Amino acid sequence: MALVLGIETSCDETAVGIVKDRKLLANVISSSVEQHARFGGVVPEVASRAHLEAMQQVIKQALKDASVTLKDIDAIAVTAGPGLIGALLVGVSSASGLAMALDKPLYGVNHLSAHIAVDRLDNDAKMQPSIALLVSGGHSSILQVNNLATDVIVKGATIDDAAGEAFDKIARIMGLGFPGGPVIDKAASFGNKDAILFPRGLTQSADLEAHRYDFSFSGLKTAVSRYLQQTPSYLKADVAASFQEAVVDVLLSKSIAVCKDSGIDNLVIAGGVAANSRLRELAKQRCEVAKIALRIPPAGLCTDNGAMVAALGSLAINEGVKPSQTGLSADSAAPIAQVIW
Ligand code: KG4
Ligand code: ZN
Repeated sequence: MALVLGIETSCDETAVGIVKDRKLLANVISSSVEQHARFGGVVPEVASRAHLEAMQQVIKQALKDASVTLKDIDAIAVTAGPGLIGALLVGVSSASGLAMALDKPLYGVNHLSAHIAVDRLDNDAKMQPSIALLVSGGHSSILQVNNLATDVIVKGATIDDAAGEAFDKIARIMGLGFPGGPVIDKAASFGNKDAILFPRGLTQSADLEAHRYDFSFSGLKTAVSRYLQQTPSYLKADVAASFQEAVVDVLLSKSIAVCKDSGIDNLVIAGGVAANSRLRELAKQRCEVAKIALRIPPAGLCTDNGAMVAALGSLAINEGVKPSQTGLSADSAAPIAQVIW
């Protein structure tokens, strides 16, 4: 049972997780989100510097929490992409240095697959093949996961904005702050989800042939902006709840359609947007009706963290995947099917 330390720096979280096989031992996160909030989005240079400043302390704290020392670590895993290149390079350089100094294998892993891998922690359920709905700030896809370390097939993806990006943009337009997901989630809890019927992207029969499993959120964004302009006395909570419902509805109807069409009766929902309370609630209801086994990691493990990176590293070791070469580099635009490199 390998002890794996995972490092995540693809965006604004400097995060280190430690797992032993499937057991989570430590999960430490230092976020620079407050430094970016006034800009309404993550500033890459600020994120890279914050990673450099936080890295040592976050590693130390994770080792302490796991009650282990660096000498006990069997392998290092690190997010090698996709993400902000300067931010990724801080993590990859730190991980490479550690692996070399400790003379242990290094696994460069895909951030997106890692979001799904976190579901394997403390979970014995046999979930492969499975359908995965991956919804984060930069990506929204439906995947068929035959083997998370080696065989992931893209069934559908967004053709414009990611789901998290849509939350962030609408929150900005409504003056609710950044990141948008948590603030819209909260505002929506006081609102009426049926107050305004916003459009569900790519669900009309004309769209279904070419984009049956794809998403589009730009039309929704335009519809919400127009509504806000035309309705000066709008209720923020109602707009938040109705917008959220439009996103969640389409995410789930397409994911369940993939499950049904492929005959795979289990669904994993992962990525930052999987922390959304309405998505979690409606997924449970709809999967019960459709007789689909549903898994969603605890909300705290849905947004970026190091445990997910360690979890994917651990999975790769168990699957006998070869470690990365020395000189591993980062790839800011890594495709989802490239799980380990
Ligand atoms: O996975 P993640 O932490 O980072 C990326 O890999 O992008 O996802 C961040 C995204 C942001 O767009 C954020 O607004 C969204 O996840 N998010 C949420 C919630 N919490 C975070 N979206 C909806 N509801 C939430 N509760
Ligand atoms: Zn992420």
